[in-house]
Amino acid sequence: MKKKLLSFLLATTMVATLATGCGEAATADTGADEPAATTETTEETTTASGDQTVGIAMPTQSLERWNRDGSYLKEQFESKGYAVELTYSDNKIDQQVKDIEGLIADDVDLLVIAAIDGESLSQVLADAKDANIPVISYDRLIMNTDAVSYYVSFDNYTVGKLQGEFVEKQLDLANAGDKTYNIEFTAGDPADNNAGFFFNGAYDVLKKYIDAGTLVVQSGQTDFDKVATPQWATDKALNRMQNILASNYSDGKTKLDVALCSNDSTALGVTQAIESDYWGDVKDVIITGQDGDVANLANLVDGKQTMTVYKAVANEAVATLDLGIALLNGETPDEGLISASGWNFDCAYDTESYDNNVAKIPSYLLVPTVVTKDNLEKELVDTGYYTLDANGYPQATN
Ligand code: BGC
Repeated sequence: MKKKLLSFLLATTMVATLATGCGEAATADTGADEPAATTETTEETTTASGDQTVGIAMPTQSLERWNRDGSYLKEQFESKGYAVELTYSDNKIDQQVKDIEGLIADDVDLLVIAAIDGESLSQVLADAKDANIPVISYDRLIMNTDAVSYYVSFDNYTVGKLQGEFVEKQLDLANAGDKTYNIEFTAGDPADNNAGFFFNGAYDVLKKYIDAGTLVVQSGQTDFDKVATPQWATDKALNRMQNILASNYSDGKTKLDVALCSNDSTALGVTQAIESDYWGDVKDVIITGQDGDVANLANLVDGKQTMTVYKAVANEAVATLDLGIALLNGETPDEGLISASGWNFDCAYDTESYDNNVAKIPSYLLVPTVVTKDNLEKELVDTGYYTLDANGYPQATN
């Protein structure tokens, strides 16, 4: 019912937009609002798609992957003739609210948002809804709002599950007998709805081994709140691991076997802490991550990080494009979008898993891949996402 109303409103908005040439006026207006120093805004004026503009709000350029997301999304929408306004908000919640307000004031026709804090956008998105702008929650679910139409992401629980299963397999935990191993957890930003999914995915695999005493958490820190890393910040993950090492692994014999890190920015800090503050060799510690950030891939090549879960954000952008076009055309996409779009990557349509406290948000979920030193070239270089530099280290192509 709600969706039908949305399609009707969208169709009405599009007719109104075409009739008034509102899209053009909007693009011209953007110069009036100078973006803040920390905000990157990119605009295109002439389009082949009815002068429609897509507003893309990304969290920050300081976490590597969002640079790739922003540029892939911009490239995709522009390739179909849409104008794009792209903002980065320096991981500052207030800045992102302002940036989205700016996009709404510019009369964008669609919003694609990766939230910094999933719980802080209710008010600004109420404004988007009033302006009949459909919202795609990109990668991170936006909570506590009825303004989000769809969610595009990877299967976040599976990301964590892959990390947990990797550890299980590497240590052959199922056949460990009396052997015990020490593990420490580092999770993500509590303001990011994904962070809990990643942590739970990993923890659910490993819990039985912790309960059985095969895996030992010397720090005792196993609750998400205890192991979380505000803003996914490398330096915060580093400091916390230094403290854990000092308190639990400083006797020159207590071995750290696993550092289960939810993503690469935290893995980077944890790896640095282990390199500088731990008596053993970092190469003997299983360190997990996620994203395939360039510095982490170099660590993979050097044997300092053991795995990363790669999420092809180029494909996430393609899924967002086709969903976005359907919404801009006033459609109410469902599972059929996947076959109709002819994507060459796997994607599941899920109407159950992602509840934003107002409704279950229909979700398109892509499939993540485990990358290690052994399959790095096949998964990342042969697929064209990275090239290898003269020293054999991967460099992103986008
Ligand atoms: C993304 C991860 C990323 C993290 C920090 C999460 O929402 O899904 O890929 O590592 O944010 O940027």
